[in-house]
Amino acid sequence: MFVSRFLTFEGPDGAGKDSVLDVVVPQLQQHLTRELVVTREPGGDPIAEKIRELILDPANTAMDDRTEALLYAASRHQHLQQVIEPALVRGAIVLCDRFVDSSIAYQGAGRQIGETAVAEINEFATSGRTPDLTVYLDVPAQVGLERIRSKRKDIQYDRLDQEEDAFHERVRAAYLRLAAANPKRIVTVDAQQPLAAVCADTLTVLKQHLAAYWQN
Ligand code: TYD
Repeated sequence: MFVSRFLTFEGPDGAGKDSVLDVVVPQLQQHLTRELVVTREPGGDPIAEKIRELILDPANTAMDDRTEALLYAASRHQHLQQVIEPALVRGAIVLCDRFVDSSIAYQGAGRQIGETAVAEINEFATSGRTPDLTVYLDVPAQVGLERIRSKRKDIQYDRLDQEEDAFHERVRAAYLRLAAANPKRIVTVDAQQPLAAVCADTLTVLKQHLAAYWQN
């Protein structure tokens, strides 16, 4: 039986991705019979982390949208070569926090440089490597933004968080389009629910998908 091992997590800002991963990853570590590699984008390798700092630095207000998209793609290629592909080759299960869908949603739709153009540069950056399963934590843009704003009251927002509400509406709409266009790969979890329910739904999806590697 073919069992897929490259998993990604996606969602608009404020979907609670980090909180869900904090709960779900220890469960995976406990139950999976294979090595688990948990990594994130942008970053995940020393060079890719430097690109991450460059992209997310609030001082870089002059960064052009296409430059940003190309930097994400560059960081992704580096991360794939150095971390993801070697892990898959040695038989690990890889869980990556954000991947190409983020670029299509944030740069393609959010920054409005075109979802097809962004998909194309990412095809080059990834040589077509596609996740076997994507868990998409769905939350309306306004709910996500409220969560971020109440959590970070006294902290400066990063450059992307400062973007206007319409940006986040476009990001969420693009995620919904991606989920509708890729129903086999992308499983949507309702992230408006209380955290415990979101974690439980996410674990159910992962457990089902990774049944061949799951030990109770
Ligand atoms: P991060 O602090 O890691 O946020 P999160 O916990 O939401 O993942 O910052 C990542 C930010 O980068 C986030 O706002 C989404 C954005 N991003 C893109 O715009 N394009 C991309 O291709 C990726 C991977 C992330």
